[in-house]
Amino acid sequence: MARENLWLPYRQAQTAPAPQVATRTEGARIILEDGRSLVDGISSWWTACHGYNHPVIAAAVSAQLAQMPHVMLGGLVHEQACQLGGRLAAALPGELEHVFFSESGSVAVEVGMKIAVQYWLNRGVSGRTRFLSFRHGYHGDTFAAMSVCDPEEGMHRLFGELVAGQLIVDLPRNSTELTEFDKTLERHRDELAGVILEPLVQAAGGMKFHSPEMLAAIAETVSKHGVLLLLDEIATGFGRTGSLFACEQAGVTPDVIMLSKALTGGTLPLAATVASERVHSVFLSDTYEHALMHGPTFAGNALACAAANASLTLFETEPRLEQVAAIEERLTEGLAPCSGLAHVADVRVKGAIGVVQLDRVPDLDALRQAFLDEHVWIRPFHDVVYLMPPFVISEDELETLMRAVCRVVERWSRAPS
Ligand SMILES: Cc1ncc(COP(=O)(O)O)c(C=O)c1O
Repeated sequence: MARENLWLPYRQAQTAPAPQVATRTEGARIILEDGRSLVDGISSWWTACHGYNHPVIAAAVSAQLAQMPHVMLGGLVHEQACQLGGRLAAALPGELEHVFFSESGSVAVEVGMKIAVQYWLNRGVSGRTRFLSFRHGYHGDTFAAMSVCDPEEGMHRLFGELVAGQLIVDLPRNSTELTEFDKTLERHRDELAGVILEPLVQAAGGMKFHSPEMLAAIAETVSKHGVLLLLDEIATGFGRTGSLFACEQAGVTPDVIMLSKALTGGTLPLAATVASERVHSVFLSDTYEHALMHGPTFAGNALACAAANASLTLFETEPRLEQVAAIEERLTEGLAPCSGLAHVADVRVKGAIGVVQLDRVPDLDALRQAFLDEHVWIRPFHDVVYLMPPFVISEDELETLMRAVCRVVERWSRAPS
């Protein structure tokens, strides 16, 4: 197989080991070209919540493919997009009702930021063009999204000069820090379009958790200062933290929410930026200038919307949230042995996310190879080893993943690199 034409993500091609070749997926497994069957601990970047090849999603996509794979959303709509818009609005808390489709999480964030800036412009308020975001945050790899990522951990350090200068602060962890956050917002509110946050779990920036109480307090502070709250639920949405959306656990409804990843059950690229009635109403007027000027070619792709509708049906008809609760319980027990190991700084679990925090950055290639040798697909990054398995994973498969984590981390902890 010729691979040399592929420029692969997050990879130094000169030194990285050759990628594995996947040929098939099945339930919670990825099958490689050489026949090895790996238990998947990552759900393909946290997307495959129902496991792979779910027949309900496959049937919905096949039927849609036969009928109409895609039409532009400029001047046209279709049943799958309309149905999905309605179902998302019904599933989301509060008045999050206006659904803008795009095709990746980063673009959904770009759109959310554009909506926030234009919200103020449309209201005749100038100067509110910056965002406040948090250390350890990650919101994507396009330029506006990069600007709100952690400047150090967010993988975009090189572009410091080029990306918009945002206000990036520590996420408050206690009442003193919350007071500090309050003061910062007070000082900067007139230049801020919005505050953007991954609720409960800051994922790609280090798998850091915060409590629902702190999320609620942050949301209240943001609201007090009249700044828009944008919640990025691209990683946390669709059950991963134990509720359909993480913000529900804090009783928080943002002004704008961004969704992607598990939206289609991990089958096709689709993202949504959903705005509240209050935000959307400001875009209505008799001038074109007030409209949202954004329109990805594949916005609301009918195949992807069909997959997302089928995925929502699975959340209604199969016990996904119960499965997440069971995974949370098992992860808490199964990863506990790691917490006593040398060079393990912390072990934490939230919903179907289990994290072993190391006290240093290991030789990631060596660790990843060690997991492959255990026949599991686990990809530690920076200083964390984590599991985010498909919710349908069997007990045995989950045991296999946790045993592999404990074994590999234990070996590493005796001779940390
Ligand atoms: C919270 C969050 N926001 C945005 C993104 C970017 O999504 P995408 O990779 O689809 O552009 C990610 C991807 O990991 C994410 O975890």
